[in-house]
Amino acid sequence: MARGPKNPYQRYKKLERPEIKPARTTLWEYPSANYGKGRQGDTKYRGQTPSFVIWQVLQRWTKKGDVVLDPFCGSGTSLDVCQDLSRKGIGFDLAPTRDDIGAADARALPLDDDAVDHAFFDPPYADNLVYSDDPACIGRTRADDGSWHKAMEDVVTELSRVVRPGGIIAAYVQDVMKPEGFFPLGLELAMLMGGQLVFVDHVCVVRRNKALENERQLQKTADKLARGFNHLLVFANRAA
Ligand SMILES: C[S@@+](CC[C@H](N)C(=O)[O-])C[C@H]1O[C@@H](n2cnc3c(N)ncnc32)[C@H](O)[C@@H]1O
Repeated sequence: MARGPKNPYQRYKKLERPEIKPARTTLWEYPSANYGKGRQGDTKYRGQTPSFVIWQVLQRWTKKGDVVLDPFCGSGTSLDVCQDLSRKGIGFDLAPTRDDIGAADARALPLDDDAVDHAFFDPPYADNLVYSDDPACIGRTRADDGSWHKAMEDVVTELSRVVRPGGIIAAYVQDVMKPEGFFPLGLELAMLMGGQLVFVDHVCVVRRNKALENERQLQKTADKLARGFNHLLVFANRAA
């Protein structure tokens, strides 16, 4: 009898960084966080966004030459994907890591009204990861006292100011499971964005990382289910 691999994801290891094709459904999974061969941010940056997610968003909801803003640019993944797909990327971060990323708080961007066509953002998931010493780091807000939600409300208001009417505003976010309880940040951000923007689509992005494939690590937190997917929330900006 043929024996399968012990680790059910082992088969993906042979497929590292394959070429990418446009997604056809609202369930996205990819064997590696990055596609193809070029530079796509920094895989060592904690909290890096999978470049395949940004690629799918840009190729489906934007077109060549469009200006795409990332106000939480981190290691610059979105800028590299923009270049790959001939979009013009503009990136800001509270703690910039590269010369092509400007320093700014996502709630007060140095941009005119309607300055960009679209925005993509992957914010801190409350205090899941603290990114910098800056007190304005949203990685210092909490999921259980409303401070993350207030910060996100202000980010969405600022994005709806700088994105042109009808432009796409897409957010990539993960729910948080803590000893104190479960915080469904994806659902809550969707409700919050829905108050200001028009819902376009909701995609479930399957997470693939070493922690989720490591039996010993999963055993340590076996009383709770590990987060197996992220939310991609896609909205359009309203006319002013
Ligand atoms: C999930 S990471 C983004 C990862 C990035 N997309 C990448 O692929 O490398 C969240 C980022 O938000 C930044 N950040 C936290 N608070 C911020 C704020 N108030 N304004 C702008 N950026 C902020 C952090 O410095 C961090 O780089």
